[in-house]
Amino acid sequence: MRQLRREGSAAHAALAVYEGAPRNYLDLVVDMGAHVYGQDKAAYLLGIPLALDSRVIVELGSAFSFYDLGHSYEWSVAQPSESVSTRILLAAARLLAIRGVQSTVYSVDLRDPQPMRPRLAHDFALEAYHQPQFGQDSVAWLQRFEGTIDVLFCDSKHTYRQITAELDAALPTLAARAAVIVDNCYTTTPEAGDPVPGGKFAALQEWSRSHPEFNATWTQRDMLILTRGFSL
Ligand SMILES: C[S@@+](CC[C@H](N)C(=O)[O-])C[C@H]1O[C@@H](n2cnc3c(N)ncnc32)[C@H](O)[C@@H]1O
Repeated sequence: MRQLRREGSAAHAALAVYEGAPRNYLDLVVDMGAHVYGQDKAAYLLGIPLALDSRVIVELGSAFSFYDLGHSYEWSVAQPSESVSTRILLAAARLLAIRGVQSTVYSVDLRDPQPMRPRLAHDFALEAYHQPQFGQDSVAWLQRFEGTIDVLFCDSKHTYRQITAELDAALPTLAARAAVIVDNCYTTTPEAGDPVPGGKFAALQEWSRSHPEFNATWTQRDMLILTRGFSL
């Protein structure tokens, strides 16, 4: 903060308040935007739930499998790649509460959480908005889910059959006005047994074609946004 370099008692007082200012849940998003991987996702993951007054937000794939989490307890910059989407979606839920919208984020992942992972919601007083669903397969979870989903974020296994199964399983649970945000949409890695070449990307092209009621917004952020009832 440039103005804090000025001399004088007011400047010192300002510095003291600045340095003592606690971090809050919006800093979870700011830190994403400022420093780390995920910065290009923040506007979509925060903005779309707000635009829809979302009561039910579901993320499929919520842990992060390929990072060693041996570092310190501090969130954000010291935890650059853990819970990227979770923290942004939780911040959205908290902002929705200010608008009087009671919102819940369901975080589904096959794996159990890292030991310190549950502290994210606790440390930022976001527990009321979070329903972790760890140790569960995304498709099986969607098939059991009895609510109505406003925003679905798909970020589990990036394959043809996984994304197709998730979108098909989600379809009956999606609200009339809903958004499905699909991460890593340009992944073309094939898997043995795929019906056509082209991996996740091909699956998304095919699913979009066969579901014209969804508007497909392909972004330069490696995310496809499928919306029903509105366009971005
Ligand atoms: C790319 S990471 C998710 C990252 C997270 N969205 C974030 O922003 O920090 C993918 C996660 O999907 C999970 N996953 C893979 N297959 C799954 C399945 N069938 N059901 C649920 N989770 C799955 C993995 O355990 C892994 O933690």
